[in-house]
Amino acid sequence: MGDSGDNTKRGLWNQKFVQKGEIMKKVITYGTFDLFHQGHYNIIKRAKELGDYLIVGVTSESYDIERGKLNVQDSLLKRIENVRSTGLADEIIIEEYQGQKVNDIIKYDIDILVIGSDWKGKFDYLKNYCEVRYLPRTKNISSTQIRDQGTIYRVGVVAENDQDGGIVEETRYVSGIHVESVFAQEQQTAEKFCEKYELNSCETDYEKFLSGVDIVYVRCGLKHRVDYIERAIEQGKYVISDSPLTLDPDTLKRLFYKARQQGVVLVEKLMLVYLRAFNQLVWLTHGDMIGKVLSVNCSISQDDFEGGKSFYETVVHAICAILKILGKGCVEVTSNAVKNDEGKYVYDVITMKYPDALGTIEIGSTLDMENELVILGTKGRVTIPNDWWNTGYFEAKVEGSEFLKRFSFNFEGNGFRYLLQELLIMISDKRTECTRLFYEESEAIVDILRAITGKQ
Ligand code: CTP
Repeated sequence: MGDSGDNTKRGLWNQKFVQKGEIMKKVITYGTFDLFHQGHYNIIKRAKELGDYLIVGVTSESYDIERGKLNVQDSLLKRIENVRSTGLADEIIIEEYQGQKVNDIIKYDIDILVIGSDWKGKFDYLKNYCEVRYLPRTKNISSTQIRDQGTIYRVGVVAENDQDGGIVEETRYVSGIHVESVFAQEQQTAEKFCEKYELNSCETDYEKFLSGVDIVYVRCGLKHRVDYIERAIEQGKYVISDSPLTLDPDTLKRLFYKARQQGVVLVEKLMLVYLRAFNQLVWLTHGDMIGKVLSVNCSISQDDFEGGKSFYETVVHAICAILKILGKGCVEVTSNAVKNDEGKYVYDVITMKYPDALGTIEIGSTLDMENELVILGTKGRVTIPNDWWNTGYFEAKVEGSEFLKRFSFNFEGNGFRYLLQELLIMISDKRTECTRLFYEESEAIVDILRAITGKQ
């Protein structure tokens, strides 16, 4: 495998070579080259030895995220610098998208593509364009291995039942983080959870639980939420909590103040703000893609939302979406709750009035509702179909074009991994404020929730 004799287009390749006469042989190789190690050096050196001119492609940050590689630690600049400092690369390029290799091979007139044997067979389709060589990997070293020797942040889950919200599974895709233990008030719940997710330990003593973890994920009802968050912060732990953190603005202020004092980050689990698709959508709508935004309409069925959460825990995602798109300048909130015979709400249309726009939330429980987010502007509209709070996709219909523009981003799992990855960056940067959802935004969310409750 990888011998030049395998090449299906060998004839063509020779022809090219003859035409070039005594020209140099061009080799290309690719990689992320994170935490540069001996294995990287060896493959670059051997690639160089196969020809006269070596091009090294280094993956861009966004490309790595797109292909689900969330554990890269070095910046693109640092990775390029490490490749450059080998003194072996004649040229360094950036690999930015899937399918770029074919274009590069044609563009740079490449003779040999070199890649490690871990990719054996995966690039055979490129043999139509150049020789493909799979070289044996250097044994016992990889970026992953080096990452795993670094700090591992221990996560503890505060649970009320044996449902974890996907955190255990999601941490497997982010390096440097591991779910170690669970706390529950009931011994039986703690044990069941621990067994189900194969954790190291379970506790019913909260202080003892806190002493064994670095990050606490508070996944419990509003009644005890503040207490668990506050005690964790006081012990200097980073906290991720289901949203809303509280319905009381003073308590919210106190929690964020304490977090800042302790030098830790308090993160609300509003996944939307960590998703590339949603951030791109916000950026584009703020940037005149559909003109001036007049309306944001979010429909959400409580039953489709992570197994039927409470009204607050569902509606908060829609409020967050509207705040991110229309801003914090909401002047009036109205609620039109429809209740069933038992006086329990089943349907509500909430409006958030802005001086020049309107946010509308259509929320229901036990109803067959269509989940959708639609933004109307003076020059077009943007739609996120289906479960818009957890998505990698949206579409736009823009004035002057009869075609639908589709935006699609890699989205894996339930999205929690993107939040965890950003939390690790915040920790390593020693930040005390969440950079995706600022305190003022959490404050605005609480204000709107209170306005809704007052009107229901
Ligand atoms: N490589 C190698 N020997 C190793 C590690 C990597 O030959 N021990 C090669 C890969 O096969 C690839 C190139 O180096 O052709 C860049 O690999 P990259 O994915 O950046 O490095 P890894 O150490 O494999 O990274 P990770 O653990 O994150 O997958």
